[in-house]
Amino acid sequence: MTDKSAQPRVMIFDTTLRDGEQSPGATMTHEEKLEIASLLDEMGVDIIEAGFPIASEGDFAAVTEISKLSKNSTICGLARANFKDIDRCWEAVRHARSPRIHTFIGTSPLHRAIPNLTMDEMAQRIHDTVTHARNLCDNVQWSPMDATRTEHDYLCRVVEIAIKAGASTINIPDTVGYTAPRESADLIRMLLERVPGADGVIFATHCHNDLGMATANALAAVDAGARQIECTINGLGERAGNTALEEVVMAMKVRNDIMPYRTGIDTTKIMNLSRRVSAVSGFAVQFNKAIVGKNAFLHESGIHQDGVLKNVETFEIMRPEDIGLHQKNLTMGKHSGRAALRSKMSELGFDLADNQLNDLFVRFKALADRKKEVYDDDLIALVADEATQDAHDFLQVKRLRVICGTEGPQEAELTLSVDGVEHATDATGDGPVDAAFNAVRAIFPHEAHLQLYQVHAVTAGTDAQATVSIRLEEDGRIATGQSADTDTIVASVKAYVNALNRLIVRRQKTAPDADVKGVNYKDA
Ligand code: KIV
Ligand code: ZN
Repeated sequence: MTDKSAQPRVMIFDTTLRDGEQSPGATMTHEEKLEIASLLDEMGVDIIEAGFPIASEGDFAAVTEISKLSKNSTICGLARANFKDIDRCWEAVRHARSPRIHTFIGTSPLHRAIPNLTMDEMAQRIHDTVTHARNLCDNVQWSPMDATRTEHDYLCRVVEIAIKAGASTINIPDTVGYTAPRESADLIRMLLERVPGADGVIFATHCHNDLGMATANALAAVDAGARQIECTINGLGERAGNTALEEVVMAMKVRNDIMPYRTGIDTTKIMNLSRRVSAVSGFAVQFNKAIVGKNAFLHESGIHQDGVLKNVETFEIMRPEDIGLHQKNLTMGKHSGRAALRSKMSELGFDLADNQLNDLFVRFKALADRKKEVYDDDLIALVADEATQDAHDFLQVKRLRVICGTEGPQEAELTLSVDGVEHATDATGDGPVDAAFNAVRAIFPHEAHLQLYQVHAVTAGTDAQATVSIRLEEDGRIATGQSADTDTIVASVKAYVNALNRLIVRRQKTAPDADVKGVNYKDA
């Protein structure tokens, strides 16, 4: 048996709430961010990047609150290379038991051209901003954005400057997902060999998944000496996303023989976090996603099933329980009580407060009246659906009736609460979904354009719940919405309204106002 405690410790830096939330459409509400942060904290994430405090009042409030509530994790905020960003970041994270400022600037030729700085001017700016951050906070992380496309000599020069100015973590981002495993490892090795002072800091790897290599690139960097992986739950993130936390953590656990590194992550919390992040971000997890996809532990073919029944290791390299997936799938019916529901939810990884359990119980009973058997996936969909609706939502669906069929026009009668005031209307359309969405538009006129409308059955059977995912776009802003119901049209309207509520939150987020051109970067 290997002594794991002797293995090098790799720090897990989770950026679901910053890089993940930056993904178009993944906007989370304040309460959702607090919930995810508390789950990450409980799971053993070493550093939580809670947001970009200067980006909006909402980001600032979330980072401040998460800093106050964190119990174990270091709380980090992002800041561009100017004093105003850094001061605002410090104002938010300073409440944490263990705060960190993460400041960055694009160092590759393409990124240097944006603020139009010469190499010397940028080097000076890195020195000034890291020094400024270090004067505020003992724990400073610095990132040369687009490091993987930065000239090696210049990268060594600026990393050395950041270390001398007091950064204790140097993050090497593959901002555009351009690198490959061997190159990712070589870059870390080159920096460790060439930069004076490199042995006194932690090197981090931050990979994007544009070429599908984010996990492999991060693990290769660790093999070369990086000791912090930046990642997100479900690989959430801009474009093709970031390195997925669950993938790197489980890879080091399952293949510890060839990747002998340890983390502080309680892997049994992975599945619950994956579900919660999917629910609050509105980003469904693809069925065949590694580790957390619906099919990751399913064995459909006869040969596989036979093998698994004889010996699970025939086709399974990890146990579902290792990630907190309990597949007993015992069904619940309308006679099941509150205690049975509590125990089932806890088995599924949801430790609900009494009021949450009460709400869920009411909805579970309503579902059980409509559906013979309530499966695990139904319950998970109910919890996810609960997360998409809030008593404070600007728009709320109150009543819906739809007439459809082969005869006559398709009609919808809808009552929607808009900022607390109920409005009712009738609308027709080309099919029941179109009629219902036209009714929403009649009550709450908007220019948002429907980019995606997707329906999935949660379980088998004609009485199955439908989960509907919607993506809306308005002036470049994207918002997604989700809902589940045994009535597909009800789920569709609720998902549409959920997306509209998120769009309203997104509209309220102001554009970052700090100076990016670099002229007045010292002005506080
Ligand atoms: O991808 C990137 O370069 C980033 C930086 C801000 C670290 O997210
Ligand atoms: Zn990134």
